[in-house]
Amino acid sequence: MAKEIHEQPEVVGHTLAHYLDMGSEKVALPTKLPFDFKKLDRVSISACGTAYYAGLVAKYWFERFARLPVEIDVASEFRYREAPFQPGNLAIFVSQSGETADTLATLRYAREQKQHVLSVVNVPTSTIARESDAVMPTLAGPEIGVASTKAFTCQLSVLVCLAIAAGRARGVLSEEDERKLVRALVEVPRLMSEALRVEPQVEALARDLAKSRDVLYLGRGTAYPLALEGALKLKEISYIHAEGYAAGELKHGPIALIDETMPVIVIAPFDRVFDKTVSNMQEVAARGGKIILIGDQRAEHESAIRFFKAITMPDMAADFAAIPYAVPVQMLAYHTAVVMGKDVDQPRNLAKSVTVE
Ligand code: F6R
Repeated sequence: MAKEIHEQPEVVGHTLAHYLDMGSEKVALPTKLPFDFKKLDRVSISACGTAYYAGLVAKYWFERFARLPVEIDVASEFRYREAPFQPGNLAIFVSQSGETADTLATLRYAREQKQHVLSVVNVPTSTIARESDAVMPTLAGPEIGVASTKAFTCQLSVLVCLAIAAGRARGVLSEEDERKLVRALVEVPRLMSEALRVEPQVEALARDLAKSRDVLYLGRGTAYPLALEGALKLKEISYIHAEGYAAGELKHGPIALIDETMPVIVIAPFDRVFDKTVSNMQEVAARGGKIILIGDQRAEHESAIRFFKAITMPDMAADFAAIPYAVPVQMLAYHTAVVMGKDVDQPRNLAKSVTVE
């Protein structure tokens, strides 16, 4: 898992290079799409686990950059919900293995409902890839650790390129908007390398986190799916109970859990919803909660909150912060599990590929 976390700047770099034309600063998809983004009025995304969280981040990107409404659900729910589809729309499936039973079943259902089927997969020979109209590969290389890390950030990289391509095709983004976004995207692998340098801070924090019984993760915007992902990673490899919440949901229930022993990990890059997250941190601080901020220097200074600990990320364009911010989130789960003496590569009860229901 450590190796795969550390490979991310490289594999995300490869993946982005496959989808971007650096010379013209444009998105250049490797496969011709068998549909026209302009003609779509809805996209549906389905996946499981970490791949589902990648899809959830993509929802924010598609809606913002392409003004395309996105419906997203975990595949195990999508497949039995008898969700109505308008024929001719797009259904996206995200899967590292390309063999996940629920995701495959949803794909088949979407095909019956006359959707264009596009998959974002890491294994190009997989069943999901074979049964898709278009395949957008992630170039993560084989992922061996049971907990998905590099496949996740590669999925995000592919999905953001698709969202930008959709935005251009639909006339929502101008050529100049696209250039700006691509210029910021090109920085992502370097930012991920810089993010890896926070490892000593993360390791020190992990020694503390390892003593916890429960951990709460909060985030807003694209940091919300990251909060869910952080909680999943921690649960699956350290067996500490963790919950991820949209920061704004705090006062609708989870605030009742906060006391002096409760670590609250707030993922908050300095973005346009940062002020809102600050008010949530104040609510936690007022109840003596132990706030751990994963944010940049501006976020630390402007929030004027006393953190229990802060993981200081490099400054970056907020649009794609979800990709580099995944790095400390993964490292935190990894180091906590290592401190606790757990086998991070073979967590109990889990299989790498879930091919049965
Ligand atoms: C979590 C994890 C799982 C997978 C999920 C989907 O770390 O690895 O939640 O993301 O089982 O698997 P794929 O992407 O192969 O469809």
